[in-house]
Amino acid sequence: MTTGVDVTSGARTVAPPAQTQNKQDAQTSKIMARLLRDYVRPHWSTLAMAMLLMALTAGTTTALASLLDPITAMFTRKDPHMLLLIPAAAFGILCLRAASMYGQQTMIDSLGERVVAEAQRDMFASLVHDDLARLNAVHSGQFVSNFLYDATQLRDAITRGVAAAVLETLTLIGLASIMVLKDWKLTIFALIVAPLVAWAMGRIGGSLRRASARSMEETATLTTALTEALDGRRIVKAYGLEDHVSERIGAQLGSRLRFLLKAVRRRAAAMPVADVFMGIVVALTLYYAGYQAIHGEIEINQLMAFVGSMVLALQPVRNLSQVSAITSSGLAAAQRVFDLVDSKPAIVDRPGAAALDVRATGGAVTLRDVGFRYTADTEAAVVKDLSLDIAAGSKVALVGPSGAGKTTIFGLLLRFYEIDNGAVAIDGHDIRDVTLHSLRGAIALVTQDAILFDESVADNIALGRPGASRAEIEAAAKNAAADEFIRNLPQGYDTRIGEGGLKLSGGQRQRVAIARAMLRDAPILLLDEATSALDTESERQVQDALTRLMKGRTTIVIAHRLSTVQDADRIYVLDKGRVVESGTHAELLAKGGLYARLYQHDLTDGA
Ligand SMILES: Nc1ncnc2c1ncn2[C@@H]1O[C@H](COP(=O)(O)OP(=O)(O)O)[C@@H](O)[C@H]1O
Ligand SMILES: [Mg+2]
Repeated sequence: MTTGVDVTSGARTVAPPAQTQNKQDAQTSKIMARLLRDYVRPHWSTLAMAMLLMALTAGTTTALASLLDPITAMFTRKDPHMLLLIPAAAFGILCLRAASMYGQQTMIDSLGERVVAEAQRDMFASLVHDDLARLNAVHSGQFVSNFLYDATQLRDAITRGVAAAVLETLTLIGLASIMVLKDWKLTIFALIVAPLVAWAMGRIGGSLRRASARSMEETATLTTALTEALDGRRIVKAYGLEDHVSERIGAQLGSRLRFLLKAVRRRAAAMPVADVFMGIVVALTLYYAGYQAIHGEIEINQLMAFVGSMVLALQPVRNLSQVSAITSSGLAAAQRVFDLVDSKPAIVDRPGAAALDVRATGGAVTLRDVGFRYTADTEAAVVKDLSLDIAAGSKVALVGPSGAGKTTIFGLLLRFYEIDNGAVAIDGHDIRDVTLHSLRGAIALVTQDAILFDESVADNIALGRPGASRAEIEAAAKNAAADEFIRNLPQGYDTRIGEGGLKLSGGQRQRVAIARAMLRDAPILLLDEATSALDTESERQVQDALTRLMKGRTTIVIAHRLSTVQDADRIYVLDKGRVVESGTHAELLAKGGLYARLYQHDLTDGA
């Protein structure tokens, strides 16, 4: 099972030893600073407006609390003037509060959604621009879970976390100032407990962050298992593996649930813990206040205002107790988002790289003593001392047993990977000296499985050259022997190809892919077993299309059926990453070596 967890180093978080706590705090504030700088700052005016409205909301809460004094006075002194004034004031304050809460909520939430969308855009752009090796290493399921869940946790950190912190802090300041005005000695009582609450919340937050990091890791594995099971649906059905994959997903859900539940308990703990501390404060204050009142040292309306403010302060404290928990998991997610965004491709244009222009020169391909291994720690090189000479406009075939390194050579030509020794050149230009864009623009690749996207047929062909006209698309399709069947589709060229091109047969899909390569009109053509997945009848049609595609281009063909490359100008026979023979079909047969044996084998196979 592929987990590819390395992409998110944050997901590997384990309980930090006590001495690294400071380091972690520094790390946390760095993530926070970056989040604010990169994603929140562009929306600073929305944020400023939202904060202004939060201040207004906090102000209305304070105003309500300060009404308690005159309200009590109204009852005790029976003042008829107050009878109209106070209800009107209460109504006015509540209306203002409603309006400011609406404004603040919509502003902060839309800010959160914008941040999510921007983070997701950055995540995908970074991933898709990364090296093929990295893309291969990251399982798509892993990425999807990062993409969907991490980004939303980040949003919650901003909207629920930061916003609540600002609003509730302002509210507490407002209420506390009323309490101080009414009785400063009593206020000190209430404040004694504040550091205790903060400490407890920090503990809960840290534990929650670890639990949610682990549950994210499990979510990534789950998405991976899900995509695998669905991608392999034909095999699952054919082999009767439904129960097996259901069990596998079930087990994965189970281990994810463990961490989710832990996170649930941590999150739920924050408020009750805050409540218990507040309970201590309330009890102590009530006792002290009651004592004062009994001994006549405090007026009843003052006391009402004080106790009322204290009760109103309960909710902000409870909300604040959640802030650390929410921002904790949000920051863990932000770390994973940043890890992904920060990953830079290793294969890039060298400074001052020129554009490769082979249209005039034709596109001769040379490999000189090329050596390559996929990973530094593997023993054997995949390609060793490999030299190929392919004249512009010629057709060359690479043949050899499976695993010989043929597909790898295509990857090296396209500079998907960097070679370890030797040189690869096109028309005498080392491919490391030209821009990647122009290099890949000079090459069209057709592989065994035609990759089609869930778009219209015309759009799929146009991917070969974005911006091509409809007439050019149709001409390419005609050349690829695809025009006829495309016209017979329900909406012709505008028919949408279903997920994975399910509505088309293998041969049809391959001809759409060939039309795409036709349109690309690149001087160099790479065919990697382009017909090997097809039946004999579609193979013949596709082969015809390919023959037209090859005309006038430098073509390198990897063929599984040797009969299809007999006409090649030169055939290279590869084995274990080396060229073991080369020559024309006739020369190689006469030699009686590996090629002759493979050819004999092909014939007796009846292929
Ligand atoms: N992405 C990869 N990472 C590591 N090893 C690979 C990768 N792709 C291919 N290989 C290995 O390189 C060797 C050559 O593979 P390949 O070029 O696909 O052979 P061919 O196309 O001739 O069948 C094989 O041993 C294969 O296992
Ligand atoms: Mg291959």
